Amino acid sequence: MAKIVSSWNDWDPLKRVIVGRCDNSVIPPEEPATSEKVPVDSEMRGMWGLRPLETVERGNECLENLVKILEDRGVVVDRPTPLQWNQAIGTPDFRNDSMMTCMPPRDILLTIGNEIMAAANSFRCRYFEYLAYWPLMEMYFEQDPDFKWTQAPRPRLTDRSYKHNYYDEKISLEERLERTAAKDFVTTEVEPMWDAADVMRMGKDLFIQHGLTTNRAAMDWFQRYYPEFRVHAVNFPGDPYPIHIDATFVPLRPGLIINNPHRPLPEPQRAIFEANDWQIVEAADPAHTEPPALCYSSVWLSMNCLVLDPKTVIVEASEVHQQEQMDKLGMNVIPCDLRDAYPFGGGLHCSTADVYREGECLDYFP
Ligand code: NVA
Repeated sequence: MAKIVSSWNDWDPLKRVIVGRCDNSVIPPEEPATSEKVPVDSEMRGMWGLRPLETVERGNECLENLVKILEDRGVVVDRPTPLQWNQAIGTPDFRNDSMMTCMPPRDILLTIGNEIMAAANSFRCRYFEYLAYWPLMEMYFEQDPDFKWTQAPRPRLTDRSYKHNYYDEKISLEERLERTAAKDFVTTEVEPMWDAADVMRMGKDLFIQHGLTTNRAAMDWFQRYYPEFRVHAVNFPGDPYPIHIDATFVPLRPGLIINNPHRPLPEPQRAIFEANDWQIVEAADPAHTEPPALCYSSVWLSMNCLVLDPKTVIVEASEVHQQEQMDKLGMNVIPCDLRDAYPFGGGLHCSTADVYREGECLDYFP
């Protein structure tokens, strides 16, 4: 039987990966954790329902571009099985009028070594999203005797999990930034909640963003679950909507990270990188001044790249400044037309989840 699942970081040679699908994607109805994350001036405020079919088809076409690039380079690509996401859901603790999507996989699945763990997401609309990946997990479980198939403790997501009326519509950008700096987020600490895309894996160290989608209790939970790892809580006071680390702080290879210049990692959190001779470089400006229509994310998806190995990176095709910077940093750049998949939850890194990268668990910060 083969070894199918293993990955310790985001830069070792990629051999197998999951790429999401846009089918049946929904703009979810408002719920306690989501409204805080929709920018005040977004055209999506107050809107919900199935996304327009032509955008779904175009998003899927973009994902097929990525699949082709990966397969042409010998990477095995697995795909989720979408559900009918516009169904209402309920548990003993809550009801929600709809689910969302199976894009992006990076928010749901966390691969650490031979374990893939489904996250403890704070959005009620994402509570059952893991089901789209279960057919793949079954296959890995059957074929790889070392594969650890795990589900993090499921948060109950009752009203106790959220601060109510945390933001009102009129909150200014300055107030948002003050709250980020004060680490005052919409979730409470009654249970661990986290999105996998807040976790940056670097061998024996996990850097986890504390923000709107991951709380302090999650850091505590990670440190207890992985006592042999060092868990570092990081936060980026320049980000008024701190969700997911991968448009903010992105490693390209051992010793090199690009950091969103509007969201610098503050001292003393930089110390561990500096003490170990890592270079933190300001990411190039995005090529666009606005995200595409019906998109939750910022223009900084420009830096949300997929590293194939320490010398090769896939960058979105229109992000010419980011491509040029990567080239200067010594990377071979492969452009991929993916911008119309952004509205479904993100860029190249978001749209994927690691299954297998060569390499082992190393200590990069001894
Ligand atoms: N908070 C991020 C999302 C990253 C995938 C941004 O929109 O910049």
